[in-house]
Amino acid sequence: MLSKLNIVILAAGKGSRMHSARPKVLHPLAGRPLLGHVINAARELGPAKLLVVYGHGGEAVPQAFADSDITWVNQVQQLGTGHALQQAAAELDDDGATLILYGDVPLISVGTLRILLEAMNGDSVGLLTVSLPNPEGYGRIVRDAEGQVKFIVEHKDASEAERAIREVNTGIMALPTAQMKKWLSALRNDNAQGEYYLTDVIAMAVADGVRVNACHPGHHWEVMGVNSAAQLAHLERLHQHEVAARLMERGVRLMDPKRIDVRGELVCGRDVSIDVNCVFEGRVVLGDNVAVAAHCVLRDVSVGEGARIAPFSLIEEAQIGDNGRIGPFARIRPGTVLAEAVHIGNFVELKNSQVDRGSKINHLSYIGDTTVGKNVNIGAGTITCNYDGANKHRTVIEDDAFIGSDTQLIAPVTVGKGATIGAGATITRDAPAEQLTLSRAKQVTIPSWKRPVKQVK
Ligand code: UD1
Ligand code: CA
Repeated sequence: MLSKLNIVILAAGKGSRMHSARPKVLHPLAGRPLLGHVINAARELGPAKLLVVYGHGGEAVPQAFADSDITWVNQVQQLGTGHALQQAAAELDDDGATLILYGDVPLISVGTLRILLEAMNGDSVGLLTVSLPNPEGYGRIVRDAEGQVKFIVEHKDASEAERAIREVNTGIMALPTAQMKKWLSALRNDNAQGEYYLTDVIAMAVADGVRVNACHPGHHWEVMGVNSAAQLAHLERLHQHEVAARLMERGVRLMDPKRIDVRGELVCGRDVSIDVNCVFEGRVVLGDNVAVAAHCVLRDVSVGEGARIAPFSLIEEAQIGDNGRIGPFARIRPGTVLAEAVHIGNFVELKNSQVDRGSKINHLSYIGDTTVGKNVNIGAGTITCNYDGANKHRTVIEDDAFIGSDTQLIAPVTVGKGATIGAGATITRDAPAEQLTLSRAKQVTIPSWKRPVKQVK
């Protein structure tokens, strides 16, 4: 049996049909570069060596992945898939298998790869193929009368009879490494494209008496490549459809599985419901009985049990406590931690603030760099003036305080426990506990005053 698994991911190609300055394999699918999806699938197989062949796009490709478990191989000139493998050959351990993947085929599943490695069975070649209604452009799988794979012929080199074959090469294969190296060194480029074709190793294996076992992916989309913006969008939808299906399998109520986007990891408790057009980025955890209404964006957020997020809320790097009520139109920025039963209403922006149990900030406020105690009520239009143009300062609002509407709290400042601030105040000094603090000019009425009237010229 195999002692060592090498995985080589080919990612040197140009991707000119993307019409983009960005290297193709760095275009994101579900918020992560295409190549990142392939690297993750590869890692799940626990390879002894993980290599990526890069070229087009230059150092931007390795720079996008800080991970130290990857060996980067620069293919300076792209002379074909076989040539790409030749560049990596010196790095591969002879006493094992080599699995070949592609940086622009992002949805390959670990399950399918395990089936392929089983088909390879230590000393055979495992070849992943699919049958397509329109095989145009692909390498065709040519079999003998017994159905054994004989060789692969590229579309451009194929005869009419061979072009009629609908079984095609996905490019993904697993080979015994020592023999693969020998076959690679014998490749020639006397073909229609003047390239060193990896696919030519199949005929060499057969000539050496090595069996080629073809197998097939669980789903057709697993082996689809990305060559254009349209194909990328198509794979994004297929992937999101799968993500939605998995959420529903676990009981999540999606109002429309076609209108959810998960760009990262979404973990849901029981009886979670998600309305249309929500986007989840990074790691989002929704507790039991959480309801997320339409058009919300959550990034790196945890939401406690029973909380409700009303429509059009944007929440980033924050924690929402149990039974919270958020939105509609709330903006919760990084560093915000809300305890249980906190209510944040419309057009409220919170940043780097902690709000304790039962407090309410329901309308039109900016609360930044603030510590809010329990059962505080913050009136409409309250602003913490946390920035003096150079530095940020904190505001502290203790338990049971009541902040009247349209108050400015000029930080650093503390509002004591149970204090009341009259509406329209500008608070520049600490407001004592349990007392009413006002900062208001006295209201006057000028009885003789008349409105100016428009002068006739
Ligand atoms: C290849 C296969 C073909 C198969 C098809 C599936 C060969 C000769 N042909 O054809 O049988 O049906 O894929 O999509 O292998 N790459 C490099 N360096 C190179 C050339 C390619 O890294 O010098 C990478 C590309 O970035 C790409 C992949 O290899 O990810 C496939 O290359 P491409 O030129 O698209 O091969 P096809 O002609 O599509
Ligand atoms: Ca291709």
